[in-house]
Amino acid sequence: MLKGKNIILGISGGIAAYKCATFVRGLVKQGANVKVIMTKHAKEFITPLTMATLSKNPILVDFYNPENGDWNSHVDLGLWADLYVIAPATANTIAKMANGVADNLLLTTYLSAKCPVMFAPTMDLDMYKHPATLRNIEILKSYGNIVIEPTSGELASGLVGAGRMAEPEDMVAFIDSFFSKNNSLVGKKFLVTAGPTYEKIDPVRFIGNYSSGKMGYAISEELAKRGAEVVLISGPVSLSIDNPLIERINVESAKEMYDASMRFFPECDGGIMSAAVADFAPKVQASSKVKRGKDNMTIELVPNKDIAASLGSIKTDKQLLIGFALETDNEFENAQLKLEKKNLDFIVLNSLKDEGAGFGVDTNKIKIIDRNDIVNDYPLDSKRNVAGFIVDYIEKINK
Ligand code: CTP
Repeated sequence: MLKGKNIILGISGGIAAYKCATFVRGLVKQGANVKVIMTKHAKEFITPLTMATLSKNPILVDFYNPENGDWNSHVDLGLWADLYVIAPATANTIAKMANGVADNLLLTTYLSAKCPVMFAPTMDLDMYKHPATLRNIEILKSYGNIVIEPTSGELASGLVGAGRMAEPEDMVAFIDSFFSKNNSLVGKKFLVTAGPTYEKIDPVRFIGNYSSGKMGYAISEELAKRGAEVVLISGPVSLSIDNPLIERINVESAKEMYDASMRFFPECDGGIMSAAVADFAPKVQASSKVKRGKDNMTIELVPNKDIAASLGSIKTDKQLLIGFALETDNEFENAQLKLEKKNLDFIVLNSLKDEGAGFGVDTNKIKIIDRNDIVNDYPLDSKRNVAGFIVDYIEKINK
């Protein structure tokens, strides 16, 4: 399963470095190409000769080879890799990664890497439990880095608790399942709408809403992570996204979002409508700034086109369409009505009554309702993980 995969292993200086011999052997046995970067301290725990022999590649420690002056390009390494695993990741290395410190090759490669990154925190119990370490691990997770969770047991210090690096066989299995999941949507293409729309009143004012776009961006990233191409049609948000599989089209108004969606949907295998599209727009957009008057002001609003319903009316049997419903009352009935009316395959229901769900926050709590009225209730989780639940469901329907 790992055949042809390019994996960089970054070893920092912890006693668990000795497990890297078996770990690299396992990766190579599964067909992976492995290059090993070691920090200076790592060399004190396991010899470069052992790692070079097992990985079948020279070990990289310095920015250049001291023997012949060859430059070890961290940029090239970062581009070469399909996966960068930092194991063991000591508290020191984790802290540096979280803060963008770039004082060795392991770290400069981390900063340059375009591929997914995994790290295996390994340290003594008290260091692991320290708020600084826990915060740094959270920061890395927020960058999308994946934790290979430490296991509990007796530590090198004699203390007992969490902080042991996972067993090499388990780490190989974890990576194997990561790649098999990652290839599951290769060859598929999805359209995702995200964020709010702005409906212009005059050159300086608009009608908008509080949508941050985080959910739609997380879904786009999850789809791309599994190998799908994504056309992300984004309203005005302050998020950035950098993935070669994701083409971002910036729009402002519901009309622009509608035009872009209608243009791209026919070439897609499915659409995920996570944007909070304004239902109405001012009938007239003033060409110069509207001045304050003494009287009340009335703005006449006209309805916008329903993008989801329009795509629902043109979708083929092979195309999927997924909508969202953000409700305050009669959640289930309203969501079901939208599912029918917009010809969706399933609808993701957020209730504003649930704490931690909805606009702006980093978490979400969803229910998925499908055409068979099956309701799947999910726990409160990060938008990244919720995106995983939604994409799992897309895969389950598998049109
Ligand atoms: N939607 C859309 N185009 C619109 C309005 C909504 O594509 N003009 C999509 C949203 O992206 C979402 C779903 O339709 O996936 C439901 O959006 P929502 O605003 O909850 O539904 P409305 O049909 O606008 O109903 P209401 O606002 O009355 O609840």
